[in-house]
This record gives sequence, structure tokens and C-alpha cells, in this order.
Amino acid sequence: MSRVIIEFRDVYKSFNGLLVHKGINLSILKGESMSLLGGSGSGKSVLLKELIGLMKPDKGDITVFGKNVTHMKEDELIKLREHVGMLFQGAALFDSLTVFENIAYPLREHLQLTEKEIRERVAEKLRLVGLISIELKMPAELSGGMKKRVGLARAIATEPDIILYDEPTTGLDPRTAQRINELIVELQKKLGITTIVVTHDLHCVKTVSDRIAMLHEGKIVTVGTWKELTTSPMQVVKDFISGTICV
Ligand SMILES: Nc1ncnc2c1ncn2[C@@H]1O[C@H](COP(=O)(O)OP(=O)(O)O)[C@@H](O)[C@H]1O
Ligand SMILES: [Mg+2]
Repeated sequence: MSRVIIEFRDVYKSFNGLLVHKGINLSILKGESMSLLGGSGSGKSVLLKELIGLMKPDKGDITVFGKNVTHMKEDELIKLREHVGMLFQGAALFDSLTVFENIAYPLREHLQLTEKEIRERVAEKLRLVGLISIELKMPAELSGGMKKRVGLARAIATEPDIILYDEPTTGLDPRTAQRINELIVELQKKLGITTIVVTHDLHCVKTVSDRIAMLHEGKIVTVGTWKELTTSPMQVVKDFISGTICV
């Protein structure tokens, strides 16, 4: 049975008088992969930040696992983030730390594991993203695609129920981008992780989404499958798909 795991209800957010969210309503089901489409500056990243309490909406409610994030105190938010993996836009690895320490970081922060357990967990997550024996490398020694994979391994290190990707393929060449998209789908299917992907990349949307939500002028204007989106009669959706709306 489908179960709602994340819900935005009538969410408003403005910055210095600029109204970014004008009543966002969106439900995400357990285990599904939802892509979030929208033009540059439409408030996609802010939406993800609100979801994990890094930003507070001015009005409205956001519930995750049935709990209202907008009312959570810092210690509750830290607990919530243990269950939500993030691969944020431009999310750099810590340059001065090895691959191992980068992935171990959220484990040390959130879980009480022994060093042996941490070593095993790091190796296991690296294997899942298709990398082996690179624990001792420094980020500077890795290609762009490998860095993304390490970022992914870090995002899934705590074995989250939800994972948020903010423009995961931006800046990658098409082949590497495709591999990252495949990996996103694989992790969602293999680990059953509820997935939200913010992207401009329509190919990414097509590959990774069960459903797609489109953010336009502060509201979710449509939610549906790729097929539904590409046959939508709504002009704003047509314009977006055909690239008329600048992304
Ligand atoms: N911390 C902030 N302070 C002021 N304005 C912000 C802040 N974060 C985002 N904004 C503004 O909110 C709007 C939406 O931002 P964002 O969610 O990052 O857009 P995008 O859809 O490209 O991810 C933009 O106009 C941005 O300038
Ligand atoms: Mg953004």
C-alpha cells in the first residue's frame, strides 16, 4: 500500500520581500523516486533545505515520517537528518580528508560504531557505487564522476530512508551523467530509498523518476509520470519540456 512519507502543506517562503514559495503542496510516497523540475531560481534547493530543517518556511507545514519538521528543535532535526541522505548542489567533499574519512564523517556524527564497523561500512558503500580500494585517495586525485560517486557513498552511509539529490549530474559529461542516473535508480530500487531528485536534466528526469513535480511561480503546477508530463495540455509544462522556459 502506498504511504505518504513526506508532505508539504501550503508552504510559503520569502527572502527580503521576494516570494519564492506561494503555497507549495506536495506528497511523496514511501519508496518512490520523485523528480523536481523548475527553472533556475524557482526555489527547488530551498524546498529541499526546508525538508531537513536547514531553512524554515514562513507559513505552512512539512511533515516527514509523520512528524512536523517546522516545529522541530535542533536535536530533533539532527536525528531526522540521520535518516535523510543528501547530495547537495556543488556538495564538495572535504578536500583535506581522505575518501575514507569523507564517508566515515556522517557515521561518526550520527552513529555509535566501532572503527572496524566503520571500515566495513565505508567499503560496502563504496562497492555499492562501483568503487573499490580508493579509501586512502584524496578528493583531488579523483575525476568528477568519481567525486560524485564518493558523495553518493557518503549520502547513503547512514543507510537513510530518504535521499535528496540536488542537481546530481550538473557539470558532468553526458556519459558520466548517465552512469550517475543509473546509480540513482539502482540505489532506489536496491535499497528501497525514497528519492527526490532536483534536476534540469530532462534525460535524468526520464531515467530516474516514478513521478515528476514541476515548480513554477512558487507553486507545484503539476505532478505526474513522464508520460503524463509529456502529454500534458498545460502550456507551462509544454514550454518546459520543449525548452522554451529557460532552465
Ligand atoms: N539564503 C538565502 N537568502 C536570500 N535569498 C535566497 C536564499 N536562498 C535562496 N534565495 C533565493 O530564493 C530563490 C530560490 O532559490 P533556490 O531554491 O536556490 O533556486 P533553485 O530553484 O535554482 O534551486 C532565488 O531567488 C534565491 O536567490
Ligand atoms: Mg538549486
